[in-house]
Amino acid sequence: MKILVTGGAGFIGSNFIRHMLLECNDVEIVNFDKLTYSGNLENLADLAENSRYQFVRGDITDATSVAEVMAQGLDAIVNFAAETHVDRSIENAAPFLHSNVMGTLTVLEAVRKFRIKLFIQISTDEVYGSAGANDSFTEDQILDPRSPYSASKAAADHLVNAYAHTYGVAAITLRCTNNYGPYQFPEKLIPLMIANALEGKPLPVYGDGMQERDWLYVEDYCRAIACVLKTGKPGEVYNVSSGTPTANLVVIKTILKMLGKPESLIQFVTDRPGHDRRYSLDSSKLRRELGWKPEVIFEEGIGRTVDWYRKNQLWLQRARSGEYRNYYERHYTRREETFTKAGTKS
Ligand code: NAD
Ligand code: DAU
Repeated sequence: MKILVTGGAGFIGSNFIRHMLLECNDVEIVNFDKLTYSGNLENLADLAENSRYQFVRGDITDATSVAEVMAQGLDAIVNFAAETHVDRSIENAAPFLHSNVMGTLTVLEAVRKFRIKLFIQISTDEVYGSAGANDSFTEDQILDPRSPYSASKAAADHLVNAYAHTYGVAAITLRCTNNYGPYQFPEKLIPLMIANALEGKPLPVYGDGMQERDWLYVEDYCRAIACVLKTGKPGEVYNVSSGTPTANLVVIKTILKMLGKPESLIQFVTDRPGHDRRYSLDSSKLRRELGWKPEVIFEEGIGRTVDWYRKNQLWLQRARSGEYRNYYERHYTRREETFTKAGTKS
C-alpha cells in the first residue's frame, strides 16, 4: 500500500509515518510537506534512508506539485498539512484560510482527478466549539467553530463532505482531541511547559488555567488512523479521544512535579481571546465499529512525554532556536547537487 502523507514533517504526521513504517512491512510512504516553521525533518532523521520512505518538499495549495506527487500512483492520502496553532490564527488568520481551506480544496481536486481510492481528512475536535461541563460531543453535533483556526478546519470539513456527496470522492474525516507526545513543536502547551520548566523559566497560564482538554497520547491516535485506513467506511466521520478531559493547571502541576520543579514557576497571564473553555468528545463510534480504543492513560503518557523531552533536550533546543530549519538544505539540496553533478558527468 502506497500512502501520501501531507504535513508529515509535523508533530502527528511524523509520529504517524514512524508508526506505519515500523508496524506495517507492506506500506510505502511519500511525505509531502511545505516545511513551514512547524515542519521539522529532524523528526524523521532516523527514517530518512528507509527504502519505503520518500520526502517531497511541496505546498498543498500548489496544484502543479500536488498533481506531480499524485501521478506516481497512490492507494490513499492522509491530509495532516495545516496551520495548527490557535494563537497564531488570532494574530493573522490569512495563512490558515490559505493552507487549511484552499490547500484541502487543491488536494480534493487532485484526489478526484487521479481517482484516489481513499482520502482521510485530519480534522479536529475544535470544529464543534466549546463543550459544556457535562457535554461529550458525538459526530452529529452541529459545527460551531469559534477561532479563525477552527473556522478554517470546519470549512475544510464541509468541502470534504461536499466532494464526497457531489463527486463520490471516498473520504473519511477524523476529528481528534488534543494530542501530546514526542516531536511536538514547543509552542503548544505541553512541550512549552516542559521546555520552560527545564530552563527554569516562567510557565505562562492563560486566564484561570481551568480550561479542559481531552488529551490523547499521539501513539494512540496513530493506531486509530491506521485502523481507519484499514477498515474505515468512506463517507463517515469518526471522533477520536481519550474521554478524560483534564484541566490545564492539573497538566502543568503534573509536569512540574515530574521534573522536580517548583509551582512558583507558574505565572498567570492574560487569557487567549475567545478561549474555548472545554473540549470533550465521545469516540464510542470508533470503538464500536472499528474496535479501536486508547491504550495509554494520561498518567503513563505524560510520564513518557516528559522523559522524551528530558532526554532529547538537543531536539528541543534546536526547535526553539530555529536551527532545525537548515536540515533540508544540508541533507536534501546537497543530494540534488550530487545527482546533478553525476548527471552532467555521464
Ligand atoms: P504541526 O503544526 O506540528 O504540523 C503541520 C505540518 O503541516 C508541518 O510539517 C507543516 O510544514 C505542514 N504544512 C503546513 N502548511 C502546509 C502546506 N500548505 N503544504 C504542505 N505542508 C504544510 O501540526 P500537528 O499538530 O501535527 O497537526 C497535524 C494535523 O492534525 C492538523 O491538520 C491539525 O489541524 C490536526 N490536529 C492536531 C491536533 C493536535 O493536538 N496537535 C489535534 C487534532 C487535530
Ligand atoms: O483540540 C485539538 C487542537 O489542539 C488542535 O486542533 C490544534 O491544532 C492544537 O494546537 C490544539 O489546540 P489548543 O489551543 O487546545 O492547544 P494549545 O496547546 O495551544 O493550548 C492548550 C490549552 O493550554 C489551551 O486551553 C490554551 C492553554 N495554554 C496554551 C499555551 C500555548 C496556556 O494556558 N498557556 C500557553 O502558553
